[in-house]
Amino acid sequence: MRLAGKIAIITGSAGGMGQASAVMFAKEGARVACIDLSEQNNAETMAKIAAIGGNAISIGADVTRTADVERIVTRTVTELGLPNILFNNAGADTENKQSILKIDEAAFDRVVEVNLKGPWLMIKHVAPKMIEAGGGSIINTASIGAFIAASSAGYCASKAGLVGLTKVAAVELARHGIRVNTLCPGATETPMAKHQRMEMEKAGMPTSNAIIDRMGVLGRLAQPDEMAKMALFLASDESSFATGADFVNDGGWLAMSGLPTQG
Ligand SMILES: NC(=O)c1ccc[n+]([C@@H]2O[C@H](COP(=O)([O-])OP(=O)(O)OC[C@H]3O[C@@H](n4cnc5c(N)ncnc54)[C@H](O)[C@@H]3O)[C@@H](O)[C@H]2O)c1
Repeated sequence: MRLAGKIAIITGSAGGMGQASAVMFAKEGARVACIDLSEQNNAETMAKIAAIGGNAISIGADVTRTADVERIVTRTVTELGLPNILFNNAGADTENKQSILKIDEAAFDRVVEVNLKGPWLMIKHVAPKMIEAGGGSIINTASIGAFIAASSAGYCASKAGLVGLTKVAAVELARHGIRVNTLCPGATETPMAKHQRMEMEKAGMPTSNAIIDRMGVLGRLAQPDEMAKMALFLASDESSFATGADFVNDGGWLAMSGLPTQG
């Protein structure tokens, strides 16, 4: 088992990639603190982990609030032990795909809070416990939207900010034996992707399969498990030389952002 004896905190554990990762990490021997906006949200994830005989706790918390983050740390340490892995996977996009000129201020602020402030708060409060544990691995879920205009202004800006935060954290925490990397997914079939598609339709944007097919050279969306596998690699000692780096897993979407190639 690739995570035997490890303790992992996964945020956004009720969603597509978070649930797939929580189940995969538990299967690989980790004890997992599953964090989502409510304990109820985590019911399906907890049931799937129980079904494979895994060990997990469910914590309802908002990663943008200091008091909630402190509670995550206290409960994890008390009920599972010192954490070795932090997977900052929770994320949000603006409720609508309004243009940069029209988007309302509260919606922009919320996306930046969830996607950028949340991971920073989690690192701030979890890393000291990881240091006590003797080191660990932090994975921040950015997006290819950090590099290209793949979504709304708030989303892409916050994910680009997370890429920057990751590099600073990697440099500052290296001496404590903590590695910090980003996972940058392309279009993945999760509740968020379905919601984005509905919002695009509402905004009158084209959402045909032809558009989806252009989101990478493989001509399909990724499955959440395909992201969880990369998170597992980054969480495990198999990635022992990787830090401060961006792990793009996008079915070739970035590669085809240039001129189309015939063939
Ligand atoms: N799905 C995609 O195509 C795609 C592409 C690139 C990047 N991403 C990123 O991957 C990550 C996972 O996305 P997903 O598609 O599985 O999304 P999802 O919507 O299925 O899951 C996200 C989960 O995060 C939780 N969450 C939101 N705000 C929270 C908060 N403040 N505190 C705690 N939990 C919170 C939600 O309740 C939800 O369960 C996100 O960071 C997302 O931005 C997704």
